[in-house]
Amino acid sequence: MSKINRDLTDVLLTSQKKYYPSRKILKQAIVKDYEKILKETVSDPIKFWEEAARDVEWFREWDKVFDNSNKPFFKWFVGGKTNLAYNALDRHIKTKTRNKTAIIWEDETGRTRKYKYIEVYYEVNKIVNALRNNGIKKGDRVAIYMPNIPEIAFVMLACAKMGVMHSVVYAGFSANALADRIKDARAKILFTADGSFRRGKVINLKEIADEAVKKCRTIKKVVVVKNNKKKVNFNPKKDIWYKDFIKGQSCEAEAAPMDAEDPAFVLYTSGTTSKPKGVVHVHGGYQVGVLRTIKWVFDLHGNEIFWCTADPGWITGHSYIIYGPLLAGITTVMYEGVPDVPQPDRIYKIIQKYKINILYTAPTLIRALMRYGTKWPKKYKMSSLRILGSVGEPINPEAWKWYYTYIGKKRCPIMDTWWQTETGMNMITPLPAAPLKAGSACKPFPGIIADVVDKKGKSVLAGKGGYLVIRNQWPSMIRTIFNNPERYIKTYWSQIKGVYFTGDVAFRDKDGYFWIQGRADDVLKIAGHRIGTAEVESAFVSHPKVVEAGVIGVPDKIKGEVIKAFVILKEGVKATEELKKELKKQVRKTLGPIAVIKDIEFVDKLPKTRSGKIMRRVLKAKELGLPLGDTSSLV
Ligand code: PRX
Repeated sequence: MSKINRDLTDVLLTSQKKYYPSRKILKQAIVKDYEKILKETVSDPIKFWEEAARDVEWFREWDKVFDNSNKPFFKWFVGGKTNLAYNALDRHIKTKTRNKTAIIWEDETGRTRKYKYIEVYYEVNKIVNALRNNGIKKGDRVAIYMPNIPEIAFVMLACAKMGVMHSVVYAGFSANALADRIKDARAKILFTADGSFRRGKVINLKEIADEAVKKCRTIKKVVVVKNNKKKVNFNPKKDIWYKDFIKGQSCEAEAAPMDAEDPAFVLYTSGTTSKPKGVVHVHGGYQVGVLRTIKWVFDLHGNEIFWCTADPGWITGHSYIIYGPLLAGITTVMYEGVPDVPQPDRIYKIIQKYKINILYTAPTLIRALMRYGTKWPKKYKMSSLRILGSVGEPINPEAWKWYYTYIGKKRCPIMDTWWQTETGMNMITPLPAAPLKAGSACKPFPGIIADVVDKKGKSVLAGKGGYLVIRNQWPSMIRTIFNNPERYIKTYWSQIKGVYFTGDVAFRDKDGYFWIQGRADDVLKIAGHRIGTAEVESAFVSHPKVVEAGVIGVPDKIKGEVIKAFVILKEGVKATEELKKELKKQVRKTLGPIAVIKDIEFVDKLPKTRSGKIMRRVLKAKELGLPLGDTSSLV
C-alpha cells in the first residue's frame, strides 16, 4: 500500500470531519438538496439522462432512450441525430453567446490570445472546408499531436463537426507511441506544431512527428501550426503550414448530422497489456454526460471563467477543457507551460489575471505547489474563485486541506471527481451542496449507481475494501475499443458479471462516501497519467542487453507514483551505472517523458507464478517492506 493509500486508510478510521458549503455556495447552487437528488435519480437513471439530453440540440429526436438488446454494446438516444461540435459551437452562434470569449490562452513566455465563440466558429469552419477539400470524409480518422494551444481545440471541433474521428495523442508521448496510435487508427492526416515551450526550452514536436510519420503509411499530409519561431524540417510534398492549409477557405460549413451512436473520437489509454486501448466515444451520449456533469459539479450559470489545468491530450482535457465548457457556453482557459515558471506563483497569477471562477486540477500539481510553501498563495486573494476541482488520482487529505485552505481560502468547496477515459465524464463526485470529507470523492453523480464488491460481485460492507464497479449504464460511457470489440468485452464486462469493472479498488464509509484507493490491476498512475506496467516492461526488453523486466509503482511525494524497475540482463552483460542511464533513456525514447523511471535494480530472477506471470505485488511488497500477502502461487 502506498503512503497516500495508508494516509487515506488512517482518515477512514479516524477523522470523519465534514466540510459544509457556505450559505453563499448553497444559495447559488443549481442542486440545493444533495441527498434528495441522489435518492430521486437512483430509482430511474434513464429518466434522469433523458431529461439531461434536452440540454443539447437534436436534429432529430431519439426513438428510444436506452437500448441494451446487444449487451455490452449499449446504445443511447437511438434514432436521434445530432452533432457534438454543433452543440459546442454552432448552437451558440444563434444567441448572444456568439460574442462571448470562448477561449483564453496564455503560454509560459507570457503570450496571450483570446477568441470569441464566433471567431472559433469561423476558424473551425475553415478547417472543415480544408479537410473536405483534401478528401477527408465522415468516418475517417485524423491524428492530432499538438501542445495546449487554441488550434488543438479548433482541429478537434472541426473533426467532430464533419463526423471525422479525432485521435489526440498527448504531446509528451514519443515518436514510437505516436506511430503506434496513428497505425492503429489508420489516420490519414496528422496535425502538429513546430514546437512547444516547456520550462523555457522548446520541445521540437515536428521532429518527433516526422520520425513517427516515417513509420506510418496512412498519413498523407502533416499540417503544422507555427507556435515557436524555431526552424523545422519541412517536406513540401507532405507538410503544410496550418495557415496555408486553411487559407482562402470559406468561414461557413454545415455540421454533419450524426447518428447519436456514431463515433466522435478515439482516445488511447493504457491497459494491462503493452498495447494501448483506443477508447471510442460517440456524438450523442458523450455530450449529454459531459454537459450535465460540468454544469452540476461546477455549478455553472453561464458566465464562468473555467480553468482546467489538464492537457487536451487526456480525457480530462477533451471533456473539461474543450467540449464541456464550450457545450456550456462559458469561457475556457488554456495554459501552455509548467506551473512554476518564472516563479511558483504562476498559477495564482493566472487565476487573478483572468478572474478565474473554477479551477480544476490534479493532486500532483497541488503537491508540487505545497512544496513551495504557503507564502506564494498567501500573496493572492484569488477572490474570483468559487469552486475547486481535483482529478486523476486520489487526493491525499493533507493536499486536500492545503488546497482548501490556501487556494480556496476556506470559501471554495473541492469537487474531487473520480472518473476515467472510459467513463467520459465525472462519475463519483460531490456537488457543491454536498458536505465534503477531505480525501473522499463523495458519492456517485446522480444517475450513476456505483458499488464496492468482492470478486463475485457481492457488495462489501462499509469500511471493507473491494472492487469499484458501476452497476448501471450512462450516456457518455465507452462504446467499444477501436478495432477490438473482444478486448472491450473482456476488460470491462467479463471480470465481474453484469457490472462495469473500473479496475480500481475502493472503500465506502458508514455515510456511503467512497474512498478510492488506486488501481487493482497492472496500471500505474504517474503524476495522474495512466501507464501500463507491460508497456514499460516491453520498452526495457526492446533493449538488446535486457532479457526481462518487472516494473512497479513506488510512492512519490509529488507524482503520487514513480516507476521502479527490476531488470534481468543478458548473460555476460555488466551491470553498470552507465547501463542504467542507457536503459532510462531507452524507455523515455520508446514511451516519452511521462514514463519517469526513478530507479533500476539489476536482479537474477523475478518472482513468478507457475504460469510464468511476474508477481509485481510481491516485488512491491518487498520494496516497501510490507507483508508479502498470499504467495501460494509463487514458484
Ligand atoms: O485510478 C483512477 C484514477 O484514474 C484512473 C483513470 O485514469 P484516466 O483514464 O487516465 O483518467 C484520468 C482522468 C479522469 C481511475 O481508474 N482516478 C481518476 N480520478 C480519480 C482517480 N482516483 C482517485 N480519485 C480521483 N478523483
